[in-house]
Amino acid sequence: MNIMDYDTVALDDEKSALVIIDQTKLPYSTELLELTDLKDIWDAIYMLKVRGAPAIGVAAGIGIYLEAKKIARDEKEFSAFLGKFRQAKDYLDSSRPTAVNLSWALNRMEQVVLSHRNQSIGKIVDALRREAQEIRNEDIWVCRAIGEYGLTLIKDGDGLLTHCNAGKLAAVKYGTATAPMYLGKEKGYHFKIYADETRPLLQGARLTAFELQESGFDVTLICDNMAGMVMRNGWINAVFVGCDRVAANGDVANKIGTSMVAALAKRYDIPFYVCAPTATIDMATPTGNDIRIEERKPEEITEMWYTRRMAPEGVRVFNPAFDITDNELISGIITEYGIARAPYSESLKGIFQRKVSGINHQ
Ligand code: MRU
Repeated sequence: MNIMDYDTVALDDEKSALVIIDQTKLPYSTELLELTDLKDIWDAIYMLKVRGAPAIGVAAGIGIYLEAKKIARDEKEFSAFLGKFRQAKDYLDSSRPTAVNLSWALNRMEQVVLSHRNQSIGKIVDALRREAQEIRNEDIWVCRAIGEYGLTLIKDGDGLLTHCNAGKLAAVKYGTATAPMYLGKEKGYHFKIYADETRPLLQGARLTAFELQESGFDVTLICDNMAGMVMRNGWINAVFVGCDRVAANGDVANKIGTSMVAALAKRYDIPFYVCAPTATIDMATPTGNDIRIEERKPEEITEMWYTRRMAPEGVRVFNPAFDITDNELISGIITEYGIARAPYSESLKGIFQRKVSGINHQ
């Protein structure tokens, strides 16, 4: 079986389990984890066994449904059920701070509880199950729509660069930044794709290069500090990246190193596109300065992946997992409801108006 044949994140009803591919084991082995315990789901998100903004949102939706099912065994009265539901929700929400899809999915699940408050606890749990599946199913058409919009910006034969993994492994099916690539491939296009390895956790090398190679793409892996050279060589026609949170002014948080790629793309006049489901756009966050950036353990830089430590003992380390790309470096934000262009404070509002009216064609 190919990695594309496995679900990144799914619900197993019979086992009452969240099933994920353990992405920390890729590309060496494809191991599926069946998680039934809230603490294990929290750990899986924190440890990046499941990662990427959309996949985290889907995992959180399924995780809180499974916990609600357990709570329902003891609590038959609404306010007691809601109290425990909210405790579990806050706990899961604390697993990672930057990707807004996590709180977006959990808030959506809470709304289901509140809007069914006059029904039995059993009915509320049934509705939560449907919503968790809906969040998962939505991701498929949302990413496909992003792919269709993205494909209008490129042509057969183009060289494309991406950073981190915003692929199928970060979502349910097409990924976001990779969706235009997968859809182009369906049409018989041949892209030449460059994947940044993405220090320090190597999502580009371990995940993007892997899934694209398994899917039959022409993919070349480069170190992050080689992006300038491939751009200067004229090999890149467009950059597509995913994101963890888009602020209302169009500033974008994505994997550390994204802002350097954007600055280089500007230098070489290459369009830099951010692929963002509306679930990743946070209109309640005014600018990139208001986005909380996750900081992770120093060992990810000093020791991980090396057979022996590669930095002096005791050296101070700064390890932010994400950075902010300023909106002026972004050529377009591709959503399932169209492509937003500068000025983003206006165009992103327009995207949500289209969402409210259900218009998803340009
Ligand atoms: O730390 P990660 O691996 O969860 O970071 C993932 C990214 O930065 C992705 O680009 C982003 O979540 C978008 S995934 C479609």
